[in-house]
Order: sequence, then C-alpha cells, then structure tokens
Amino acid sequence: MDQILILDFGSQYTQLIARRLRSLRVYCEILPYSAPIEDILKRSPRGIILSGGPSSVYDKAAPKPDPAVFNLGVPVLGVCYGMQLLAHEYGGKVAKAASREYGFSKLKILKGSRLFKGIKSDVNVWMSHGDEVKKVPPGFHVTARAAGSDISAMENPALNLYALQFHPEVHHTEMGAKMIENFARGVCGYKERWTPASFLKDSIAEIKKQASGASVICGLSGGVDSSVAAVLAHRAIGDKLKCIFVDTGVLRHGDRERMTEVFKKKFGYSLKIVDASALFLGRLKGVTSPEKKRKIIGHTFIEVFDREAKKVKGAAHLLQGTLYPDVIESVSVKGPSAVIKSHHNVGGLPAKMKLGLIEPLRYFFKDEVRELGRSLKIPESVLMLHPFPGPGLAIRVLGEVTPDRLKILREADRLMREEIQKAGWYSKIWQAFCVLLPVRSVGVMGDERSYEYTIAIRCVSSVDGMTADWSRLPHDLLQKISSRIVSEARGVNRVVYDVTSKPPATIEWE
Ligand code: XMP
Repeated sequence: MDQILILDFGSQYTQLIARRLRSLRVYCEILPYSAPIEDILKRSPRGIILSGGPSSVYDKAAPKPDPAVFNLGVPVLGVCYGMQLLAHEYGGKVAKAASREYGFSKLKILKGSRLFKGIKSDVNVWMSHGDEVKKVPPGFHVTARAAGSDISAMENPALNLYALQFHPEVHHTEMGAKMIENFARGVCGYKERWTPASFLKDSIAEIKKQASGASVICGLSGGVDSSVAAVLAHRAIGDKLKCIFVDTGVLRHGDRERMTEVFKKKFGYSLKIVDASALFLGRLKGVTSPEKKRKIIGHTFIEVFDREAKKVKGAAHLLQGTLYPDVIESVSVKGPSAVIKSHHNVGGLPAKMKLGLIEPLRYFFKDEVRELGRSLKIPESVLMLHPFPGPGLAIRVLGEVTPDRLKILREADRLMREEIQKAGWYSKIWQAFCVLLPVRSVGVMGDERSYEYTIAIRCVSSVDGMTADWSRLPHDLLQKISSRIVSEARGVNRVVYDVTSKPPATIEWE
C-alpha cells in the first residue's frame, strides 16, 4: 500500500496530520521520530512528514530521526519543529523567537512553490512555536513570510525538502488541507484514492490466516468498534466467531435488545448474552466513589468474560476493536482523560486469558471505522451510536447505584434520546445523555409538594472526546425534554442542562 509516513516529534497535532491525509484519501502511518530506519524502509513511503514538537533543536536531548531519513530520496515536509530540524540539519540558523507565537498569523505567500499551488497569496495560518528559523540553510529559499516572522516557509526543491513554520493540519489554517494535498499528490506523486474499504479484502484474508482454523472470541459491547470488527471477522471465519455480550445491569434502555435484534436475528451470528446484572449490582451496593465503581465494574467484567470464554471449546484468539489512536507509539503527551479516570475497556483481557489477539481495526480512525461499517452494510442505528462508557450508567447515577435509581435514569435517558432523535440532533452531536444527581429538591406537582431527584442533561460536541463543548440545543427542544422527563420519568421533579466544556469539566460526571 502506497503511503506517506509521519514521524512524530511529540506535537499534540500529529494525529491531525494523519487524519487530514486520510480524509484526502492518502494512506499514511505514524511512527515515533526514533523509528529504526528498517521500519521506515519497510513501508517504502512516497514522502515523509516531520511533525511539530515541544523541543528546541538546540536542546541536548533534542529528538532527531535516523540521519538516513534525509537520504531516502523521497520528499520531506517539516512542520514547525520539523522545519527547525531541517534548518538546523542543513546548516541554517534557529533561535528563540522574540516572543512565543501562538494563534493566528497572516501569511504572505511568495510565488513559485509547488506546496502553495492554487492557494491565494494571503491566508490566515495557525502558529504555535517558541523557536524560529533566523537564517535558511544554503540552497534553500523562503517561500512565505508572516507578520511576525520573515521565514514562515522555506524549501529546497532540488533536494525535495519543504518546510512550514505554521500548522497546515490545524483546522484554523486556511487552505491547510490543500497544502498537505499539494505535498502528497503534487510533490510526492501519490496517485491512489485510498479508502478504508480498500483494506477489506486484505483484512478478511489476514483474519482468516491469524485464526488458522480455531475459534475466535469476540466481546461485543454493542458499540461501533466491536460491531465492525465482528462483522469483518464473521466474513472471514463465519461461525468460528463466538460473540459474547455481557449485560452488566448498567446498560441503557434498549441496548441488550438491539444486540439480539441486529446480531442474532438479522445477522444470525453465534451470540451468547450473559446476564450478569445481579453480580454487578451486588458488588456496587453501598459504593459511592467514582473510581471504586469503575474498578469494580472493570474487574467484574473481566471475571465474567473470562469465565464465559473458557466455556467456548477450541478458542485460541480474542477479537478486539482496537483503533489506530490506541496503537500509535506516540511520543506526544497523552490526553487528560487517560490519567484522570481509570477507563474500563476490554484492554485488560488478553494478558489474563492467554489468547492470541486479532485486531482488524488497528490501522483505522473512528470515522474510518464507520465508513468501513457502511461498506459492510451494518445498519446506521449501530454505526451512528454515540460512545457509551464501559462502566455505563453506574457513572451516570451519581452516588450509590441502586435498581431504583437506575430505573429512573434509564427512563429519563430514553425520553431524552427519543426527543433528540426526533428533532434531528442525534447525529449532529458527539454524545447526549442524562445524569441522575444524588440530590432531591422541592417541587410542586398538581396541588402537592414533591421532593424528588434532579436529572442533568449532558450534550456535547467533540471530535475525539479529548476536548468538548456543550451543545447549543434549541430552547424549545430543551423545554420538550424537560417536560417529558418530569411528567413521564417517575421520581424526577427538576431538569438542569450542563453548560460546561471539557476542559475544565470532563464529559462524564464521574
Ligand atoms: P471523559 O468523561 O473522560 O470522557 O471526558 C471522554 C470520553 O470517553 C468516554 N469514557 C469511557 N469510555 N470506558 C470507555 O470505553 C470508560 O471507562 C470511559 N469513561 C469515559 C466518555 O463517554 C467520553 O466519550
């Protein structure tokens, strides 16, 4: 597969470069800057992009790639730190900028660069750097200037080296995608139109090979990733795929029924539904600490799944819907949610179960998995599902999780989702859910005083869950949701809307 290779020097935007390229239908992969040259050669990249990064090229421990990277004879594009690295390696001068430049800058493009073909001469670009190139190396020339800096882009076309001080991958950079496309298609000559479906045949063949006749266990969660992985695997090995769905007792209304409907009835897969709700709820009794709840659910899940998996005769592998962002050996700092909450995923399973791992989605981003799912004819009702955390409603019933409280939340959540769907908002937002607060307040219903629970509604927009903004739902819609919840979900007399972004809040409340 023809590809562009991105070497990661630790920028928070490295994955964005990959996402931009992929959405331009250019296949790319990310390797850490320190990748051995053999790993790079193995991929025969058509071009290399050096990402940004927080270091200074003058630091003692400044990250540098294998020097052979510069002699591969393929075009190289340096972005931000990548540009400074090129300047430094080829004999230019880099130094601290008078002031750290962060945010928009007006770029003046000089004539003649293939990187800027079809781009107007004045564009707004996004800068984020402390060092800058003071003098271009011999053989290079400046191709763009910005208000605060004389050298905002440079190149040496004879050596196939290109560099940008700003970030073309960031959404705020006007025509940034076009610059990336100019590099990939114009400069590197990448011709194909890659789509996730181009992996289909190979993925299926690979799963078949990996399974080598044995049964494969799949923990279906009902979410997009495990569903797409399961459908792919079923194409490869048919009934040797054994799906297990654990009802943790903290699922939403309709989750379990949808699994039966889609995977058992429609697709006819071998699917075992394990009702472990009594075990989960028993262990959650009296527990109020969010971290404790997460840990209990994580451990119990592994225990139940392990027990069920052992009952499957001749199983040698575990299928997982691991995505590309989880396997990139990133040098970037991990996002805040990685450390703030213990995430419960099936990630802890393989080590305990001693099964081989099959991860057919390990080269895909989330939106690509949905696209792949469409080409596999998976219903939109599954593909467009909002993310749902492993600990489920247990982290949305604040305080103790009891059957009564779960029932109230489940009903409020069902009503809210129904209204959001009816109004056409479901597919426009990242997540929409209800949270049951552990407080009661006074209200008046008919002629009577009420003293009941409060439901908080959380609707956010986001691209990857790492940052998020609260959704500006129309007031009329909020009003409709509120009155339905109060009149139809027994035990609630007040509804509030969460207007906090992430950061400083997180998406989930616990
Ligand atoms: P937070 O609350 O950290 O959530 O802002 C970010 C995204 O992650 C989801 N989330 C989880 N997903 N296991 C998961 O698979 C978990 O334990 C978990 N906790 C939070 C959350 O719903 C949001 O989409």
